[in-house]
Amino acid sequence: MSGVIQHYGHMLPITESTPRLTLNEGDTPLVRAPRLAEWVGVDRLFLKFEGLNPTASFKDRGMVVAVAKALESGATALLCASTGNTAASAAAYAARAGIAAFVLLPGGKVALGKVAQAVRYGARVVTVDANFDVALDIARTFARKGTVALVNSVNPYRIEGQTTAAYEIVDELGDGPHALALPVGNGGNISAYWLGFRRYRDTGRAERMPRMIGVQAAGAAPLVRGHPIESPETVATAIRIGRPATWHPALDAARQSGGLILACTDDEILEAYRTIPRLEGLFCEPASAAGVAGLRKAIAAGQVDPRGIAVCVLTGHGLKDPDTALAGGVEMETIEPTVEALEKLVG
Ligand code: F0G
Repeated sequence: MSGVIQHYGHMLPITESTPRLTLNEGDTPLVRAPRLAEWVGVDRLFLKFEGLNPTASFKDRGMVVAVAKALESGATALLCASTGNTAASAAAYAARAGIAAFVLLPGGKVALGKVAQAVRYGARVVTVDANFDVALDIARTFARKGTVALVNSVNPYRIEGQTTAAYEIVDELGDGPHALALPVGNGGNISAYWLGFRRYRDTGRAERMPRMIGVQAAGAAPLVRGHPIESPETVATAIRIGRPATWHPALDAARQSGGLILACTDDEILEAYRTIPRLEGLFCEPASAAGVAGLRKAIAAGQVDPRGIAVCVLTGHGLKDPDTALAGGVEMETIEPTVEALEKLVG
């Protein structure tokens, strides 16, 4: 058996009666990225490829703990609002545990692969004619009735599970990196990483603490602007969020670590989205590329020291969003079915 409960149970709120739920999540590759480092402008860059989790995003780390705790307390149904990845993950762990999942998706703005996942894992997939923030309000209010377990990142067990990514990075590097960059939507993940790094420092497992660099999309950047955004818009639909539920802990992570939260335009995000797979052979979804775009921008602006080790978290797999991957026309060439035609093409 494997997975984050098995590996990091000693750091998690796991008791003897917590079911040992797992889909072998976690233990994702930390890949050295020398060509991308040059593009970003840093000495040493690693990519934490969270797209290799069982449902192809980092959400599985927190979901396995949240669902295990929900089972422990007798829950028979899960509920979440989601820009897609949380829904896919909740649906998978509900299937694994043999309980129901209801997932609320903002209408029309969820990447195709994520919807496909939620459907095939057998969740009740519900589209809400509103954005994510409104869908989350509805889910939170309904969950207070106590008939379903809410597994959004406002559930503290989600944050607990997500700390394991910080533990893995320190365990592999031998200490914290100098900087850690990642996309920010609802604010849960940056809070979880910062909590994880602090716990490792407080228990003597790490000395160095990274500067936390959170990146929002310019059209959905409430933490940068300092106020909620009523109608957030971005190509990075995973982080199309105007009212982050974990607002203050996200800001604290940046402030306490000497880091920052900045915004990147959709053009900057898409440039990184296309560059990462081309230079390093790792394919992430648009939101995930925001971390790389933001680190590059902060380096260029002199806000982050280019020396030392930087880690960018690729939060979700590129295959989740085939529409964006193929948008703007595809460069495919057609040939006659002959060796000669191929020879002419290859040269
Ligand atoms: N990257 C990806 C791929 C995401 O799916 C999300 C959030 C984030 C980054 C931001 O993380 O919200 O903890 O700041 N997705 C949520 C969802 C909102 O419903 O799947 P955060």
